[in-house]
Amino acid sequence: MNQSMTCWAVVPAAGVGKRMNADRPKQYLPLHGQTVLEHTLTRLLNANVFTALAIAISPEDPYWPTLPLASHAQIITAAGGKERADSVLSALTSIRHRAQAHDWVLVHDAARPCLTTEDIHLLINTLRNDDVGGILALASHDTLKSAQHGQILGTLNRNHIWRALTPQMFRYGLLTEALTSTRGNPAITDEASALEIAGYHPKIVEGRPDNIKITRPEDLALAEFYLEQQ
Ligand code: C5P
Repeated sequence: MNQSMTCWAVVPAAGVGKRMNADRPKQYLPLHGQTVLEHTLTRLLNANVFTALAIAISPEDPYWPTLPLASHAQIITAAGGKERADSVLSALTSIRHRAQAHDWVLVHDAARPCLTTEDIHLLINTLRNDDVGGILALASHDTLKSAQHGQILGTLNRNHIWRALTPQMFRYGLLTEALTSTRGNPAITDEASALEIAGYHPKIVEGRPDNIKITRPEDLALAEFYLEQQ
């Protein structure tokens, strides 16, 4: 890694994960001996590239303070917001006195515990000299349909379709501006979409398919399998 490059990690972890139908937010469900969130944070810490990790946690979250990582010297806690983008902005604000506009920020979902050091380094090494930044993504192997009310409207050209993963890597200043100017826009479901609306074309970096997001109950068994395989 280049000594003069500063990278921060931002982890939105303030969601409730309704689709899991569990008794607690999905980032606190047990997975391979730890919570999902502990796996995710340990993977970011072990990559050895981040000055600090800024984590957005819901103010009513009783689980976070009980985790040993909550008092880790490299972890900064920020208050989560209503939408994912609000949580990311809050985490960005928590490092405003330490981060420079040209520093890199890698935003990574708390619910993606199988991220590898290899993919973190691939993203950083591919984009380190880029002006804007980009995201890890997966090519689509399925034929994709657009549909409404249970009826197909058309078939999408899958050569142009990518599934957006995280981390998503952008400059601190540009990302903060883009998320601030698009605040409240329901079309903003990841960081890249805020940059796209601002007129930029972030890069695609092909990531590993085991970097899954825990969304439904069966995803936990799949994540367990991937962690064992890795
Ligand atoms: O719900 P979904 O899986 O899309 O959430 C992606 C990530 O964003 C999760 O890590 C979740 O905890 C986080 N999030 C957040 N604040 C919200 C909503 C989601 O930090 N208000």
